[in-house]
Amino acid sequence: MSLLEITGLSKSFGGVQAVQELEYTVESGKIHSIIGPNGAGKTTLFNMVTGIFKPSSGEVHFNGQDVTGLPVHELAALGISRSFQNLQVFFNMTVLENVMVGRHLHCRREFLQSLLHTPAITRSDEGARHRAAELLEWVGLKAYVGDHADSLPYGALKRMEIARALACEPKLLLLDEPAAGLNNKETQEINELIQQISERGITVVLVEHDMRLVMGVSDHILVMDHGKKLAEGTAAEVRENPDVVAAYLGRGD
Ligand SMILES: Nc1ncnc2c1ncn2[C@@H]1O[C@H](COP(=O)(O)OP(=O)(O)O)[C@@H](O)[C@H]1O
Ligand SMILES: [Mg+2]
Repeated sequence: MSLLEITGLSKSFGGVQAVQELEYTVESGKIHSIIGPNGAGKTTLFNMVTGIFKPSSGEVHFNGQDVTGLPVHELAALGISRSFQNLQVFFNMTVLENVMVGRHLHCRREFLQSLLHTPAITRSDEGARHRAAELLEWVGLKAYVGDHADSLPYGALKRMEIARALACEPKLLLLDEPAAGLNNKETQEINELIQQISERGITVVLVEHDMRLVMGVSDHILVMDHGKKLAEGTAAEVRENPDVVAAYLGRGD
């Protein structure tokens, strides 16, 4: 079953066609990756699917519903969550608070009410605190729960951001370069975490440059170039696609 269906999706910034007439389907329960050189339009695609940018044209359907152009909080409430290419960390808060605040900011409509601290909200805060601690344990950060975020190594911060995205209890999780800047061991840990997330029934779409991670973990790969689909298929299909080989060899990356 397809969870996300993108048809004719385009986004331009002034004269730059960041994404052009993209057709893309994400199957429920699978691990998908999107690869392509810098500037290919990968992050722009994520920004349209998560409501940060409105598409210039085209449609996004999620779970059978037309969600084109909906705002971030409505898409989050429907079950679309993401991590960011650049860390979005509140460095003056604890690790636990970072995950909790993500839940408030991104997944709940009643955030303003929570600022008033009604008893009902305080109770739900306890629930959120408990859930945040569980998620941090899951991503391997149990030891850091009460620490200030600014004391964490970079690799741990990347995992904290995944916990925060999971705090929205998503059906679809979009990860924008989760292994960027990580060493081999940390990348392997991200690989295992992605597989665990998938095993729990969350559909994952990964934008990533680390080819070993992409090739190892993905059921399906979309290759983008200059805002367009260059190729798609399994790891083996994509690796042997002459257009992909030419594009990558042509650039030397
Ligand atoms: N907010 C923006 N304003 C103007 N141009 C943008 C913006 N976001 C992305 N672009 C442009 O869109 C193109 C695709 O960028 P991006 O989606 O970030 O690519 P990728 O994530 O594949 O590296 C690039 O040419 C980039 O400069
Ligand atoms: Mg990007």
